[in-house]
Amino acid sequence: MQQDWISRFSDNIRDYDGYAIGKLFKLLGDPATISLAGGLPSPDTFLKNELQRASQKRLQEDAAAIMQYTDISGEMDLIEAVIQFLQEDHISISTENIVITSSGQQGLDLTGRLFSNPGDAVILDRPTFAGALVAFQMQRPVFGGVDIQEDGSDIDGFEKKIAELIGQNIPVKFIYVVPDFQNPTGISMSLPKREALLDLSYEYDIPIVEDSPYRSLRYHGANLPAIFELDQHRSGDHVIGVYTFSKLFCPGMRVGFNIGPPAVIAKMDNIKQGNTLNSPKYNQDMCTAFLQEMDWKTHMASCRAYYREKLAVFLDTMQEYFPKEIGVSWTKPEGGLFLWATVPPQLDTLALFHEAIKFKVAFVPGEVFYGENPAKNHMRINFSYPSKEQLAIAVKRLSDCLRIHLQT
Ligand SMILES: Cc1ncc(COP(=O)(O)O)c(C=O)c1O
Repeated sequence: MQQDWISRFSDNIRDYDGYAIGKLFKLLGDPATISLAGGLPSPDTFLKNELQRASQKRLQEDAAAIMQYTDISGEMDLIEAVIQFLQEDHISISTENIVITSSGQQGLDLTGRLFSNPGDAVILDRPTFAGALVAFQMQRPVFGGVDIQEDGSDIDGFEKKIAELIGQNIPVKFIYVVPDFQNPTGISMSLPKREALLDLSYEYDIPIVEDSPYRSLRYHGANLPAIFELDQHRSGDHVIGVYTFSKLFCPGMRVGFNIGPPAVIAKMDNIKQGNTLNSPKYNQDMCTAFLQEMDWKTHMASCRAYYREKLAVFLDTMQEYFPKEIGVSWTKPEGGLFLWATVPPQLDTLALFHEAIKFKVAFVPGEVFYGENPAKNHMRINFSYPSKEQLAIAVKRLSDCLRIHLQT
């Protein structure tokens, strides 16, 4: 007899479908296809020899410790190295303000679980990081989405949305933003908006969750303070920071950290006890070595130089192959790994995705980056992974594909 599994699944999980992008990636098996779809850092930037040396050293020093269980909140060596790393960014915290995570995705999962009951609201941009939507969805919240603007989140729009939700007796639990080179748009939040967002957070007493995987990857323009830093000039307890080593060091380690008020961090620590327990010590040790032994500042400077060139090639080729009359526009990010292209409204980029793979080029259809009522005429484009030559070819293929579909 066949078991009826579905009816046994919990209410939170029954309709939960995971990552929409994952299913599309399965269609990208043809090696001739140039993928602008993933969010992968380039392996050209990986510190492979340095990792090998650090690994050998740690294994020789104390393999038994690496093979053992370890502290749930994280390795003290790593915590101290992160505290110093954040000081470079004018953020000052102590050990009670940080929990090491198994990367940014776990950081988001801990956040969603900590704050949301089913039916509670989360305020966020439209579009926003699809992985955050997936993480938060486990709690079945209401997504209060507001269209992002050229200079970042629409803070007035956030306020209207909060007032509307409160008017409907829906508790608003937190505001989620990626202020630096947002995934998927590449847009950064201006300084006045960072301050205005904090004003809003204080006025309505709603915490901000600041997700910062790309902060160190600025190719143009001046650094802007993290919202976490700005809050430290106020009461310093309204922002939770979500960080990852994925784009600093490498995603394979799956190590990151959350920072915030001690009560929040202690509770995240408790949640961690129920899922991963401790993050792998070996991986944490490699991240400590990255911060202490691998001259991370020089490394980040060379990553910036490397990606700056790729972005320039991409933007120049777009300019050449997508003249104004085609009706395609795109963001011009100052950092990060992505940009956001908008096609004429009659085109549906999910349908276009299936056509584009026939032209051997792929992107992510924009609709996966919306919590509700997705817009259909956008695409997320990654410029970090393909080579410069591939980037130029990919733009030409995309242009060929689009021109045909705009004529029909
Ligand atoms: C905005 C944002 N937050 C969090 C993450 C998750 O990071 P990780 O891959 O380290 O789990 C990503 C990954 O792409 C991201 O773009």
